[in-house]
This record gives sequence, structure tokens and C-alpha cells, in this order.
Amino acid sequence: MTKKTQVGLIFGGNSSEYRVSIMSGHNIYKAIDKDKFTVHPIWITNDGYFADEDESLKVLKNPSYQVKNPHKVTNISNLIELTNLPEIDIFFPIVHGNLGEDGSLQGLFRVLNKPFVGDDVLAAAVTMDKEFTKILAQRAGIPVADWISVKRYEYNDKNNDKLNYNKVSQKLGKDLFVKPSNQGSSVGVNHVTNAEDYKAALDDAFKYDDKVLVEKTIHGTEVETAVLGNDKPIVSGVGQIINAKGTFYTYKNKYEDNSTSKLQIPADLPADVVKKVRSNALKVYQATECSGIARVDSTLQDGDNKVVLTEVNALPGFTNISMYPKLFEQAGISYIDLITRLIEAGQERFDHKKTLLHKLG
Ligand SMILES: Nc1ncnc2c1ncn2[C@@H]1O[C@H](COP(=O)(O)OP(=O)(O)O)[C@@H](O)[C@H]1O
Ligand SMILES: [Mg+2]
Repeated sequence: MTKKTQVGLIFGGNSSEYRVSIMSGHNIYKAIDKDKFTVHPIWITNDGYFADEDESLKVLKNPSYQVKNPHKVTNISNLIELTNLPEIDIFFPIVHGNLGEDGSLQGLFRVLNKPFVGDDVLAAAVTMDKEFTKILAQRAGIPVADWISVKRYEYNDKNNDKLNYNKVSQKLGKDLFVKPSNQGSSVGVNHVTNAEDYKAALDDAFKYDDKVLVEKTIHGTEVETAVLGNDKPIVSGVGQIINAKGTFYTYKNKYEDNSTSKLQIPADLPADVVKKVRSNALKVYQATECSGIARVDSTLQDGDNKVVLTEVNALPGFTNISMYPKLFEQAGISYIDLITRLIEAGQERFDHKKTLLHKLG
């Protein structure tokens, strides 16, 4: 019998998507192909502490379990020692949001010289920053909502034109979205149509980031596409978010109240539109140098059916009812096979990188 691959499943983390991550970890743990893999759970608590394997297992089995014995990780040897890990063959981070999705954990795996599932440092960092994602997408010919970015030093200067709603409206129109450049789960995202709300929206968004995007509102149908793989990625069909009238895809609608926003898979759209959404998703995936996994979110604009990129998620929600796995299930790849393929893609990238020279050959 061949030896099973030892998988370090990392979940939790100190972001607004903590609970989703626990649910994703719980589902992966239950579904993973146990003939091929042994899972070693590693739970990062909401305040950034690491739990050891026994405690991590408890939360995977019972997502409301509270950690009793957390460890503050201060350096790499401390991480390995404190989490009491056996030899891990590959890490599977399912930590959404900051530190998990922005290249930080990925950098740690690189330093540890271990393979890992999902995007590498560059793609994770770039796709976490909505402005850099837009710049790269635009360069690849993909439409994005017109925007300006406001840095904190500009926000601190009360005479800056970017804080003046009328001036900004001359460029972008009166109907605007304001959001932190690096965030997720719609936290700090606000829709505004007047000066007073614009100011409040900037104040809210700057609680979460040092850079805030102000975008023209795109009215239309929100669509999402899942992409999997390295050099020859597979693109799923298209799913649709149906928001109740007058609301957008807010934190509450995503996680707390499923009566206001619904997922529809596949989206009810003409074949040529679906084709365009899928080809855009692939272009964006390649432009941002993603590997392994990403979910590409766009809006199909009312009127002209232009497919406008919203954002790229390097670690999309991965519970068994999340959009990413559901899209692949619809394409004939089951949740269990999807997990296996993601692990294989991470291993493949690592094996390839090993062949590159790092010093004069
Ligand atoms: N320019 C925009 N026009 C219309 N709706 C938007 C725009 N930007 C964001 N939204 C709405 O806000 C939601 C969250 O914004 P998004 O950029 O996806 O950030 P997050 O990373 O928090 O999901 C989107 O799903 C959409 O409903
Ligand atoms: Mg989003």
C-alpha cells in the first residue's frame, strides 16, 4: 500500500470570514478522499493564535467549539513546535481574507519549502488588492468599473479633491460604490448617491484599509465563475447571484440572511453571454498569474451586456454549498474530486518550481 499524503489543513484566521473558513475546513475534512490523504487540522483562532492538532480537530467536528489552549506563534520553529505537527507533505490553507488570502501564509509555506494548495504569493497578494487586480485586468483588455483610489494621506488632507463628492461625480457620475481595496465579505462596502453618504462611506472604508476605491456603480447581473488548475486551467460554467431589489450582495446577505440573495447555478443567460463571462474569467486568471484556484466575479451590465470584472477571490468560500464547489459539481467534478485536484495542482506547481535554478547553474 502506498503511503498516504499528509495534509496540513489550515483554517480559521483573524478576518471577517473566520466562520466561513471554519465551515469550509469542516466540509473539506469530512469529504476528503481518506484512501489518499490523512488530514492534520491546524486552527488559527480569530485573534491569530494557533491551536494544536487535538484542539483543531475538535472545532472541525464541532464548529462552535472554543479553543482552550491557544499558542502565540512568533516564528517558524515556534509554529512547527507549538502546533505539534507531524511531517506535513502539503499544506491546504482555507483561510479567507487577510493573512490567509493575501500571500502571507503562502510566503510562510515558501520559507518552509513546502507545497501548498492554491495561489502562490504574487497572485494571492495581487488579487487581494482590488486596485492591482483592476489594473492587470484592464491591461488584458477586460472591462472594469471606472474608479479612483484614495490613499490615507489623501483622506487625511481635508482639501483633497478626492474627498469632494461633486468633483468625484464629475469624473465617475453620482452613483458610486466605496470600498476598501483589501477586504472581503462586503465589509466596509457602501453604495452612495449624495455628498453626505459619500463622506460616511469613506470614513467606514478607511476603518479597514489604507487605500479605498471609489467606483462607478455597475447596474446589472452579478455572475461568478470558478477556475481550477495551473498552466491549463479548467473554467466552470457561470453562476448568478440574485439580489433582492434595491440591495446589493452585502455581508448580511452573504452569510446571515439567505432570503435576500440567492445563488443560481447555472445562471439563466444566453449561450454567447456565458461564453464571454467564461473567457473573461480565464483571461483575468492568467493576467493575475493565478494557479490552483480562483473565483472570478463580474457584473453583466444592463443594456449592453458588457461583462465588467468586479474582483478575483484567491480563496473563495469552500463549504459544500459555496459557489466555487457548486459550479464544479455542475461541471461534473464532485466535491471530493475537486479537493484531490486542488491538492494535485499544488504539488505539481511545487515539483515544477523545484526544477528551477536559484543560483548560477
Ligand atoms: N462598482 C460596483 N457596482 C455595483 N455593485 C458593486 C460595485 N462594487 C461592489 N458592488 C457590490 O458590492 C459587493 C461587494 O463588493 P466586492 O467588490 O465584491 O467586495 P468583497 O471583496 O467585499 O466581496 C458586490 O458583490 C456587489 O454587490
Ligand atoms: Mg465580492
